[in-house]
Amino acid sequence: MALLEQRQQQVQNIFNRIASRYDLLNRVISLHLDTRWRRKAIRALALESANPLILDLGTGTGDLALMAAQETQGCGTVCGLDFSLEMLRLAQKKTRGSCRDRIAYVLGTALAPPFRDDTFDAVLTAFVLRNVPDLSAFFSQAYRVLRPGGKFVSLDMFPPSGSPFALLYALYFYRIVPWIGASLAGDRRAYQYLSDSVKNFHSPENVHDIIRKAGFARITTQKFLRGAVCLHVGEKPDLIGY
Ligand SMILES: C[S@@+](CC[C@H](N)C(=O)[O-])C[C@H]1O[C@@H](n2cnc3c(N)ncnc32)[C@H](O)[C@@H]1O
Repeated sequence: MALLEQRQQQVQNIFNRIASRYDLLNRVISLHLDTRWRRKAIRALALESANPLILDLGTGTGDLALMAAQETQGCGTVCGLDFSLEMLRLAQKKTRGSCRDRIAYVLGTALAPPFRDDTFDAVLTAFVLRNVPDLSAFFSQAYRVLRPGGKFVSLDMFPPSGSPFALLYALYFYRIVPWIGASLAGDRRAYQYLSDSVKNFHSPENVHDIIRKAGFARITTQKFLRGAVCLHVGEKPDLIGY
């Protein structure tokens, strides 16, 4: 098996394994801040279309997709794509009421999403980048399926550096988080993987650069927790507007 496929398979296995405890652990580890950050990601969309079609890449248990459906107040349609069947099963379970008719979950890889070019008004992704073995391919696919003038919003964790806060964060995230994972999810290895994925990840500036190279324009970076969490927002150039 090629190295890239092997890495994807390992990540898929991890999320299938921890799916049932994923939401609980997210809330505990982030002290509930994850919900606030996702809301900021949705607000950054600032949708103009009356009936937007939105894609959530690596939707997991659907938190961001659900928020997007609620935020578009009964008129948008959201597609949540993920390659972990167990995560998608939980997303489907959580999708109730009017959201049921407006969210579709699709099993597939973000490195080859099964959609035509220029399909979506917006593409979102949260906490997925660190799991992707080829970020250039990931952003290029997000760009491909986004319509010209459409918005791309990416939320993720980054290794903070060079401040007393970074030291505290390292202690918490690299030492305590794997222990929380062992205690609450019974899976220390999965949460060690989460810690390592942050420790070994790019800087927000590098990610900004990779997003730009994929073709996006007007890219902004918003930092939370002194850069431990960042929101990158970009647009696919519209031939008329640029
Ligand atoms: C940390 S979870 C984030 C889930 C969700 N976006 C959230 O905000 O909670 C990462 C998700 O990305 C999915 N994922 C990682 N790499 C992927 C890929 N190449 N294609 C599709 N899904 C992927 C995993 O299965 C997992 O559900």
